[in-house]
Amino acid sequence: MNYLIRSLLFLGILLLGVACKKDIVEDDNACDNCPDTDIIGGDYAPTAYTLDIPDWMGTPILPADNPLTLEGVALGRMLFHDPIISSDSSMSCASCHLQDRGFTDGIAVSTGVEGRQTTRSSMPLINLAFNPNGFFWDGRSPSLEDQALHPVMDEVELNEDWDNVVRKLQRHDQYPLRFREAFGIERASEINKELAVKAIAQFERTLISSNSRFDRVVYLNDGWLTDSEQRGKDLFYVEPTNPDHPGCSHCHGGVNFTDYSFRNNGIDTVATLDDFADKGLGGVTGKYYDNGRFKVPSLRNVALTAPYMHDGRFLTLGEVLEHYSSGGHGVENEDPNIFPFPLSEQQKQDMIAFLKTLSDTSFVNNPEFANPFH
Ligand code: HEC
Ligand code: HEC
Repeated sequence: MNYLIRSLLFLGILLLGVACKKDIVEDDNACDNCPDTDIIGGDYAPTAYTLDIPDWMGTPILPADNPLTLEGVALGRMLFHDPIISSDSSMSCASCHLQDRGFTDGIAVSTGVEGRQTTRSSMPLINLAFNPNGFFWDGRSPSLEDQALHPVMDEVELNEDWDNVVRKLQRHDQYPLRFREAFGIERASEINKELAVKAIAQFERTLISSNSRFDRVVYLNDGWLTDSEQRGKDLFYVEPTNPDHPGCSHCHGGVNFTDYSFRNNGIDTVATLDDFADKGLGGVTGKYYDNGRFKVPSLRNVALTAPYMHDGRFLTLGEVLEHYSSGGHGVENEDPNIFPFPLSEQQKQDMIAFLKTLSDTSFVNNPEFANPFH
């Protein structure tokens, strides 16, 4: 008898358990005695994250509605490296943005899930917090938060639906607590794509490179450039009195080696400005004279980010320099700062030696940017 009662009781508890499980999936309020698994628990006590930026670098742009916190940055780092955000769990942001390559991928145009081909070259993710002027080669995205929405939905990149990503994050055994710690949400069901991209953007803003040999010599007075590097530097920086001068710093000036403008640097021959295979800025603004203009990229860590240009057409810095020395193809809206200049073998070597001083080994080896799952 006793045994029978106990058995029935056990069976009852078992059934109740099954019923609860089912109810939680279908309707949170249907089961009064079930524990509320949507509640996350744990503390929300975020710690402000202070970017370690030397004063000569200027002021980063940090949106007031997404302040950096240790918890937010840590969550963003996880999301950046986690293939959970792709349709077949095969790729993460880091698949196309590898730290040891200055967060590019080393191929001409990027490959997405199932080997799908994109049409553009992956961009370095370096000192993005200083960019005042739109993201992507054509500037179509206004903020890092907005930018991070795109690769997930792009069918040739991660080919995933944000609703699916969010569902996977809500059911994950770690993410709900991480989102609570970063953003103070109380329920797993409050995880959404807006919070996910805020965290990713926070992590990206910490990707600061300011410790290259160039930085140490020029800004910290620590060491010297070699003769060859110095000659390359003299060529790179504008010298108005010399008509044979390459004038790189007209466009690649400032601490980040870009003026953040969009220009046609003369790499294509086209009959009319409507004929560019990739219209660049013009594809966004719809303006004829913007066709063929692309973002002037930063040259920090450029020796690590080959191949070069928006479509990765140049394999080496030597090829890049030969292009500039040729003076471009004379297309209508080619920038006036693109003009032919003599380039001896020695000058080429000097310029490359100079560009290599922009490599920052502490940046590409910084353990705080690495995959947190390894
Ligand atoms: C399939 C490869 C691929 C994946 C995956 C990928 N990216 Fe990219 N990323 C690119 C390419 C290619 C570009 C340039 C695209 C363009 O200009 O249209 C780019 C551009 C960017 C830029 C613009 C940088 C600048 O200076 O304007 C940022 C930021 C970025 N990616 C972050 C991310 C984040 C965050 C993720 C994950 C959510 C991600 N990427 C996933 C290939 C990839
Ligand atoms: C008129 C402005 C301008 C001048 C002058 C200029 N550049 Fe550029 N540079 C650009 C633009 C715009 C791009 C991107 C073009 C594209 O992708 O289609 C670029 C791309 C590059 C890249 C490729 C970087 C990457 O991540 O793919 C390198 C390297 C480079 N420039 C070096 C130089 C050097 C060295 C000089 C001087 C010899 C120079 N540039 C002069 C505007 C300029």
